[in-house]
Amino acid sequence: MSDQHSAAHAAEQAEARWVWVVAIIIAILLCMMGYMSLHWITMPPQRMETVNPGTLHLSGEFVESNLGSALEADGSVTVRLTGNQYSFTPQCLLVPADTPLIFRATSSDVVHGFSVTGTNINLNLVPGYVSTIHARFQQPGEHSMPCHEFCGVGHAAMWAHVKVVDKQTFARAAQDKRRLSCAERS
Ligand code: CUA
Repeated sequence: MSDQHSAAHAAEQAEARWVWVVAIIIAILLCMMGYMSLHWITMPPQRMETVNPGTLHLSGEFVESNLGSALEADGSVTVRLTGNQYSFTPQCLLVPADTPLIFRATSSDVVHGFSVTGTNINLNLVPGYVSTIHARFQQPGEHSMPCHEFCGVGHAAMWAHVKVVDKQTFARAAQDKRRLSCAERS
């Protein structure tokens, strides 16, 4: 009888402990949501940017001559790209290591996925909208950049590269070029 009683008591204590663990995890997640939504203003209504997918190639931010990496006055780099069935433009992104980057991307046709292996860069490119993400690569290297959203028969073959070079190499290349990439075409 008393054995049964103490077993029930131990179970109750264990349950109470787990209630606290779960409550703490929920509290941490709520704090993260609050922080992210205020710090990056990630909630759609505040940062929604639209763009006409039908005229991307004719004028505006996403014309082909404006795609690639641009060195900004404050030393940061803006990388602009588009996804289209079934490739990215540029097909090879050139970025400096140890530098604040912002990616700005959109799609000219259907929804594509933009992700960079080995990082937490992961966006959907939705026609009509500009997707943005901040990133920083710690060191030079090569990453692949597969489309991760099914976008049609050529989906599996849709992927590109990201080449991270050291800051000085990038700065030198940026001296005589307004927009940089490592795609063969440019
Ligand atoms: Cu583009 Cu899958």
